[in-house]
Amino acid sequence: MSLQLLITGGAGFIGSHTCLSLLEAGHGLVVLDNFANSSPEALRRVQELTGPQAATRLQLIRGDIRSREAVAQAFRAAPIDAVLHFAGLKAVGESVRQPQRYWDVNVGGTLQLLKAMADHNCRTLVFSSSATLYGFPDQVPIPEKAPLRPINPYGHTKAAVERLLTDVAASEPGWRVAALRYFNPVGAHPSGRLGEAPSGTPSNLFPYLSQVAVGLRPTLQVFGADWPTPDGTGVRDYIHVMDLAEGHRAALEVLVREPPQLLTLNLGSGRGHSVLELVAAFEAASGRAIPYQVVARRPGDSPTSVADPSLATARLGWRTRRGLAEICRDGWAWQSANPQGYGEAH
Ligand code: NAD
Ligand code: UFG
Repeated sequence: MSLQLLITGGAGFIGSHTCLSLLEAGHGLVVLDNFANSSPEALRRVQELTGPQAATRLQLIRGDIRSREAVAQAFRAAPIDAVLHFAGLKAVGESVRQPQRYWDVNVGGTLQLLKAMADHNCRTLVFSSSATLYGFPDQVPIPEKAPLRPINPYGHTKAAVERLLTDVAASEPGWRVAALRYFNPVGAHPSGRLGEAPSGTPSNLFPYLSQVAVGLRPTLQVFGADWPTPDGTGVRDYIHVMDLAEGHRAALEVLVREPPQLLTLNLGSGRGHSVLELVAAFEAASGRAIPYQVVARRPGDSPTSVADPSLATARLGWRTRRGLAEICRDGWAWQSANPQGYGEAH
């Protein structure tokens, strides 16, 4: 089955890896991205990895999801069967300082997209949601039915979009929607050609420690070693970005194959790792020492966040296949070959 897909935010970290996986599955892609947090070089490398023939199945529209004209242009580029909606802003701290911007892009942008979808009779959507919705969970591993208690504007925008999608799906028959709640996406394509390229100082652990390992930053700060966890540092469910890409492929196939429905699924491994475990695994994969110092807890952090991914396994036949060693091996292959991200290769 070959589909024509609109991929918003397809040049970003998760979008680019998913584009590669979807091209390899034989689909045709229209990518809509304004490069607010990415580079066209990522898509060029996706095409390089698929080879010249599959590469012709990727079209790029440079534009903003909030622009009616840009979205219409994307729908004119091909008869779109389904949309994978990655475009959005994701920096928690920035969302606290600029909440209007986050509501505008994440919620306003999604509204614009939904309107264009209905206009073009396209009612199949895979949305990038987040484990951030669970806030401080009462129960770990966290099931999808856990209460949603986002604790920052970024999380509020993700909760608002999930609410919007629920209302839209209920308003008329025919909508096929998957809201995928990612846990902590990390790692890179094993080729070392695609990976995460944050601009400025990374706020997340994995890109930060990768930059320490490669010598771009002197020391990792560990935010608290007094949490109620086995070694006192924060525990997270790290998911290899290629496992995440495959989860999107599986969700899309289920949506298209089954009767219309709204699917809400955790995408995670079900296993938690502490900050210090990740440091040790990255040191082993890279052969580099990662100096660190323990500092105060980061405001807004929770001790432990681990998915219960059993619903995704039951509904999609999907589970993660790559563990911490592969995550660090592939992350290091990317970071060591591209210390400046995509910057140097334009
Ligand atoms: P990313 O920033 O690498 O990718 C987002 C892409 O969207 C970028 O290419 C950016 O240029 C584009 N974009 C931003 N605003 C746009 C706009 N107005 N119009 C068009 N394109 C726009 O982020 P990512 O890590 O790949 O995340 C993808 C999605 O997954 C986001 O919605 C994010 O909130 C969600 N998510 C990410 C994580 C994570 O930890 N990476 C976790 C949970 C959920
Ligand atoms: N940490 C450090 N030092 C750092 C960065 C992080 O010790 O420099 C610790 C944190 O305290 C936490 C763990 O490493 O214990 C992971 O932190 P990240 O910032 O990498 O990830 P979070 O789980 O805090 O949040 C991320 C995204 C959210 C998203 C969530 C779940 O930032 O937007 O994953 O998907 F919602």
